[in-house]
Amino acid sequence: INIALFFGGRSAEHEVSILSARSIYNAFSKEKYKIYPIAISKQGYFISPAESEAILFGEQKKVPEINRKNILDQEILNILENKIDLVFPVLHGPYGEDGKIQGFLDTLNIKYVGCDLLASAVGMDKAVMKEIFSYYNIPQSEFRILKKEDVNKQKLPKLFQKLADDLKRPFFIKPANMGSSIGISKVKELSSFKAALKEAFKYDNKLIIESSVEGREIESAVLGSGDQIQVSAAGEIISTHDFYDYQAKYKDQSTELIIPAEISEANKEKIKELSIRAFKAIGAAGISRLDFFVNEKENIILINEINTMPGFTQFSMYPLLFKEVGMSYMELLDELVNIALA
Ligand code: DAL
Ligand code: MG
Repeated sequence: INIALFFGGRSAEHEVSILSARSIYNAFSKEKYKIYPIAISKQGYFISPAESEAILFGEQKKVPEINRKNILDQEILNILENKIDLVFPVLHGPYGEDGKIQGFLDTLNIKYVGCDLLASAVGMDKAVMKEIFSYYNIPQSEFRILKKEDVNKQKLPKLFQKLADDLKRPFFIKPANMGSSIGISKVKELSSFKAALKEAFKYDNKLIIESSVEGREIESAVLGSGDQIQVSAAGEIISTHDFYDYQAKYKDQSTELIIPAEISEANKEKIKELSIRAFKAIGAAGISRLDFFVNEKENIILINEINTMPGFTQFSMYPLLFKEVGMSYMELLDELVNIALA
């Protein structure tokens, strides 16, 4: 089976994607698969397999900033048109996890691992995702959607007061389209509100403001499509940070993953059920990681989000959760490829 492994990409999660791709490339059985690694630069240029392999394993480690006339050159076009059975787009964030690359591949009639255009787009846009979850009565924290033009029309203290009346403080301010906690701030007082808006608006013109939840961060992983859906064990993230932000996710060793999560059997079941409902609600297929807040004392389980292309290093939550239920990293890759080719 011939696979093009897309990685890097235009989003702020470019570096995370390189880490995921390095693990995936290494784990694919070379007897069964021929892998064409194809890096995508931050400007959107597709880079040849030889150079991409050097980025994954050579000295370079970084996708070069390039500028040339064509996004795709003849070598890449030839691979896409003549050499491969499918693409594994291990791209996180906008231009990778949001349906755009999926639509591009659909247009070229190329199969790929993971969610289709619409599910990817819904999963990436937190505002749309939350509207869909609310339509399907999947419990989540209170939220408001804030667009750039709304902010420009109002005085900040007044806007802050209105949000404080509606939501439980501190609240989280998040760009609607982003991942890995990039651009997210936790805001308690008016004094930090302005800086938080500015930070989030760097990444998107649409934000969501959410009530904070006093709860543990519990995640589960889903694999499959249609009626053949498997849910992993649940895992917990223990972070010494104020919340599980980018620094905690990728820079610090202090974050701990507890697998399986130490929660009641009843709550494990509940998380499985909600995971499947959320997966189906957005029309997901193949792969997704579901993130929850759980407060057992108060009997609260709320969905935080769905990630349609979750972090996929050997140490990432998604593969570790499936390892816990007896599926190795390699078997997981086989399964994802089989689903994509079915
Ligand atoms: N957005 C990152 C890659 C994750 O959800 O794991
Ligand atoms: Mg996410």
